[in-house]
Amino acid sequence: MKPSSRRKFMIAAGAGTAAGLAGGFWWWNRPRLEHAGLPPVRDPAFPNPLPLPGSDGMFGVLDVAGTVAIAAKSARHAMLPGKPARMLAYEVQHEGRKLLNPVLRVRAGATLRANLWNTLDEATIIHWHGLKVDANNDGHPHYAIAGGRTYDYQYTVLNRAATYWYHPHAHGTTGKQLYLGLASLFIVEDDEELALQRALDLRVGVSDIPLMIQDKDFDVSGTPAYAPDAEQRASGYFGREVLINLAPRPYFDAATRIYRFRILNGSNARIYRLAFRSGERLLDYRVIATDGGLLDRPYRTKEVFLSSGERVEVLLDLRAAREGDTVWLTSRAFDPMHQETGPGAHPGHGAAPDPQPQAGEHGMAHHGAAPAPQSAAQSGSLPDGAAVDLLRINVAAKVRYDRPVPATLAEIVPLDAKQGASRKFLLQREQGQWRINGLTFRMMETPIVVRRGATEIWEIRNSERSMPHPMHIHGFQFQMLSRSGSPEQQRQLAVNAQGLASADLGWKDTVLVWPGETVRLALDFTHPFNGDQVYLFHCHNLEHSDEGMMINIKVLA
Ligand code: C2O
Ligand code: CU
Ligand code: CU
Repeated sequence: MKPSSRRKFMIAAGAGTAAGLAGGFWWWNRPRLEHAGLPPVRDPAFPNPLPLPGSDGMFGVLDVAGTVAIAAKSARHAMLPGKPARMLAYEVQHEGRKLLNPVLRVRAGATLRANLWNTLDEATIIHWHGLKVDANNDGHPHYAIAGGRTYDYQYTVLNRAATYWYHPHAHGTTGKQLYLGLASLFIVEDDEELALQRALDLRVGVSDIPLMIQDKDFDVSGTPAYAPDAEQRASGYFGREVLINLAPRPYFDAATRIYRFRILNGSNARIYRLAFRSGERLLDYRVIATDGGLLDRPYRTKEVFLSSGERVEVLLDLRAAREGDTVWLTSRAFDPMHQETGPGAHPGHGAAPDPQPQAGEHGMAHHGAAPAPQSAAQSGSLPDGAAVDLLRINVAAKVRYDRPVPATLAEIVPLDAKQGASRKFLLQREQGQWRINGLTFRMMETPIVVRRGATEIWEIRNSERSMPHPMHIHGFQFQMLSRSGSPEQQRQLAVNAQGLASADLGWKDTVLVWPGETVRLALDFTHPFNGDQVYLFHCHNLEHSDEGMMINIKVLA
């Protein structure tokens, strides 16, 4: 070897080492491009970058340890591009950063102080959806504070790691305030969760992507318009634009690796039938977590139903994709089962019944259409159950990624409810109102009284002449035992003999109950708090709960 070539070789080796190190840091910051491809194709029908949680601004991530001051206020934000308009948001000022609707991230076991300042001209209160806290900290409507007032929360995070969320809960205005913008995620982390993040190189906002799905209508100024008429209060309020993280028709540039999506249905009433598709082909993905955190293992599926208030976390494996490929997160057509007037009956606000939706029927409900402002009265133009694409995922970079999906995720100890008392609930519309066992909400009445520490089986039956109701309980997570009488579109997703779908497994706080269906849940009313605790059991169709499809539950001291 001539000296000159040897010298070259050493320089090359040195450069290689340096590049390797730099590559390591580069990898840490963002997916490394293997070769610079063409810029990703921009689809004029999906022109808006998906808002990702960063360190400030809308959905900025705030690691909470100690105290956080949250103001509920009117803010200016362009949900429709180029149309900055008024909305409501939670604002946090923290070390010179201003965050709106911050994604709050906490360690399991941490003690948190949250100070809510209501600068609105009406009452509000924050409810921490899914958290096991005492009644004083739960945000029950009884604790709603008037404009100008403050409310102090202090609690220890007893929950396991999961994607929880927070939103307003003043009685009668929850639907409106949430629709106008008040809502965000509350991510709890623990050791099991951090192990998964390390195993798959997951980082929030980069490869671990929160998706808050909401449908809204806007007035001409770009302000979300909430004005349900009597029929919309009975069916729920449906918007024509489906937004993710408050952006309509978003796209996301992805690399050839595994992504985690933490999907929250933050819509007032709309249900989504979530699938990933490439062209007309539905892709396999893995359900890894539900409302209360990781499942025992990943479950392969092609679709899940997600109703208002529910969360599902999924892994999408793009390793086999090629640069330039497009993958869509879509909501497939389904029978919305608005059959209040009898099975099979479909009043005007429902989509046409479609018992066997085809993969090819991806509704082009708003593809290519300009985001034309429109009034709430036209909201029927994207009927409940209509197919609609939600997110365009552009495979824009090739990366090396060889992390295997773990075979197991967490330990789920089944609740032993065999000796437990069982309670029956019937969901039905009577005398012009949705009711739970014939009851509607009375602030000071507690029709359900539970013994502390009791394990109970709840059997929730939805009448045939009904519509789907996502039923939610405060203060406790439950395990689903069975679904029966399910419509075919639900039954075909069953992964066990009890009729449960993958999205029904693990720990849950909200469950979708279809007309004619009965679901059975196991609940453990053990808690460490002093005194009687009053929580809520309600439908998370927010027009339904605002109209009173909600009852108090007292857990005795
Ligand atoms: Cu997310 Cu009582 O609600
Ligand atoms: Cu809740
Ligand atoms: Cu309901």
